[in-house]
Amino acid sequence: MTLDPISRSARILVVDDEPANVTLLNAVLTGAGYTAVRCCTDPREAVRLHQDNRFDLILLDIRMPGMDGFAVMERLAPLHKDDFLPVIVLTAQDDRETRRRALSLGARDFVTKPFSMDEVLLRVRNELEVRALHQSLEERVRARTQELLQTQHEVLRRLGRAGEYRDNETGTHVMRMAHSCRLLALAAGLGKTHAENIFQASQMHDIGKIGIPDSVLLKPGRLEADEWEIMKRHVAISGEILSNPTSELLKLARVIALTHHEKYDGSGYPKGLAGDEIPIEGRIAAICDVFDALTSERPYKSAWTVDEAMTFLRTNAGIMHDPRLVTLFEGILPKVVALRERFAD
Ligand SMILES: [Fe+2]
Ligand SMILES: [Fe+2]
Repeated sequence: MTLDPISRSARILVVDDEPANVTLLNAVLTGAGYTAVRCCTDPREAVRLHQDNRFDLILLDIRMPGMDGFAVMERLAPLHKDDFLPVIVLTAQDDRETRRRALSLGARDFVTKPFSMDEVLLRVRNELEVRALHQSLEERVRARTQELLQTQHEVLRRLGRAGEYRDNETGTHVMRMAHSCRLLALAAGLGKTHAENIFQASQMHDIGKIGIPDSVLLKPGRLEADEWEIMKRHVAISGEILSNPTSELLKLARVIALTHHEKYDGSGYPKGLAGDEIPIEGRIAAICDVFDALTSERPYKSAWTVDEAMTFLRTNAGIMHDPRLVTLFEGILPKVVALRERFAD
């Protein structure tokens, strides 16, 4: 039997309290070309050895003093929850109960004593093949999942771009705002994954602008009261576009779109939520959105300086914005300012 290089380097552990059996199996396996065979005669050592070496296959005796093979299998189980670890049990010829119990504990195959060496090698090879297939399948699932996630992110980004296309062709506002949201979420201690999701989802915060007429959206100069009411509708339109979300990311996108114009004192829209009634993601988005809008040139205003915008946020802490988040925002201000260079209009 010739082995390919990958099989040859498979890490194999032999556990048997009988030194003669260990010596024999070791000789047969190394003789067949396996280069990473470890042996132990003390079953209590097997678990620790596996922790250190992450074996690809274990040949395990059942009847051993101190700790039997069943107990070894029970202790190994939590160590390879997400992994396929073939255990081949070494048993006596006609011990049906042992086989039944070993199978129920997850043994993949048996080798009966006295050993037939050909059989040992064939069973070892078969189990290593199954493990290799299992691993490549898992690898493929991982790659596909990653691909799906990337596709989701890309769709969010491009839809966010679409929402902003008429009033900011380059999409820089959305990018700066989303990056600031991530920084502020991290500063607020929300954790890396949550912050990343907020980064992705906040890109859709103004998707509803798609439904606002040019006469209002692109009007140079201040909006009249009735035009302002039309402008405010972008939140409800976002809500409709993002209704019945099926993924966590789209749920979050909807939350942000619906709450980024709420104000801390309850004077915002559409619902007039106050304080902690406004989801934290919405409170984060509100600060980042306002800061970027203030420091950007718009058809109706020139760009404010960073100091002016920060003074505005500070003055409105507790009124428009969550005061704790405003303080945290001040802490990340240099990074937010750097985004203005990276994503310049
Ligand atoms: Fe908005
Ligand atoms: Fe915005």
